Amino acid sequence: MPIHFKPYLTNKAAYKGGKSKDEINIGNKKIFKLSSNENQLGSSPKALASIQKHLSTLSEYPDTTDINFRKALEDFYNGQLTADQFVTTNSGVANIEVIIRAFMEKDTECIYTNPAFSPYWDFAAKVGGKGIDVPLDGDDYSLDVDGILGKINDRTRLIFITSPNNPTGTHIPKSQVDKLVDNLPDHVVLVYDEVYYQYADAADYVRALPYVIQGKNVIGINSFSKAYGLAGLRVGYSYSTPKLAEYMRRLMRPFMINTISMKAAMAALHDDEFIQKTVNLVHDEKAFLYTELDKLGVKYWKTQANFILTRPNLPSSEFTERILNEGGIMVRPAEGFGAPGCVRITIGTREANQALVEGWKRILEQG
Ligand SMILES: Cc1ncc(COP(=O)(O)O)c(C=O)c1O
Repeated sequence: MPIHFKPYLTNKAAYKGGKSKDEINIGNKKIFKLSSNENQLGSSPKALASIQKHLSTLSEYPDTTDINFRKALEDFYNGQLTADQFVTTNSGVANIEVIIRAFMEKDTECIYTNPAFSPYWDFAAKVGGKGIDVPLDGDDYSLDVDGILGKINDRTRLIFITSPNNPTGTHIPKSQVDKLVDNLPDHVVLVYDEVYYQYADAADYVRALPYVIQGKNVIGINSFSKAYGLAGLRVGYSYSTPKLAEYMRRLMRPFMINTISMKAAMAALHDDEFIQKTVNLVHDEKAFLYTELDKLGVKYWKTQANFILTRPNLPSSEFTERILNEGGIMVRPAEGFGAPGCVRITIGTREANQALVEGWKRILEQG
């Protein structure tokens, strides 16, 4: 009898993230990586100091559980959440996978809202589940709450929403999240991906937190890859009701999070100064890019995150290649996120943004 390969694993192409700098070859030219929404100021200094301090412990196993990390998170949330409400993982994306493995199986469904972060439906397919797309509405990419509610059936397990959203940078106003949560049937869990929350400044922005505190079936997903500047370490966490979190922790392996990641993340949680500096840079540079993109006459969407979705006046793959060659700028075509013809650009330092604008100008001049 041949080996049984699961059809829903073999049928699928694996999820591809953005390339690293080492995977790009443009000679000795300076490269600005504006393709993966990383922190342009580097990593939290407190995290780096903690990494240094704990390097000598690497011959030993980490704590058997993540309870100290979860207690640090309880502190971070000033006791509004308790340690039993957290699930910590090797990255935000691993948390998404844990949630899908915990709640979905063959022939169940999750709802997502394109343009969106592709692991939601990609991972659902890998457990034999199905992603049901309820696309964001109109040019402002607003959430179609009635459309989502209309697609819920007995097989629905999860709804994924993202605010600020990747790749659009748009946020979901509180009134719409309220409506969705208020109408959520008992058998459905709302997964609220908020990995870019630090950058949001809209008056009607809301996190998953108030809903979880109210005891709703909501999970908030977070990452240390973005504002904390620790993408290379791979750490993330989610919070939900004690019941949901305790259930998901059954999927944890012993020693799942390595010592360095845990210590760095715990230190980063207290690095308010670095987060403030990071957010200030993004807000200042966002204003600079809006002005410059307006001058270039380029279509873009106002953002609540640390990246901007744009529609260059040429095919996104061609633009991606030309801006790399012209300005040394790595950007991300947004086709894979459900935004054809668009390119997502991380907001850089002034030097990077200036190189982007100059390179873009040359491309427009060349035609
Ligand atoms: C919306 C969204 N969720 C989750 C993640 C996962 O981040 P990580 O796996 O690096 O923690 C990302 C990363 O790009 C993201 O954009």
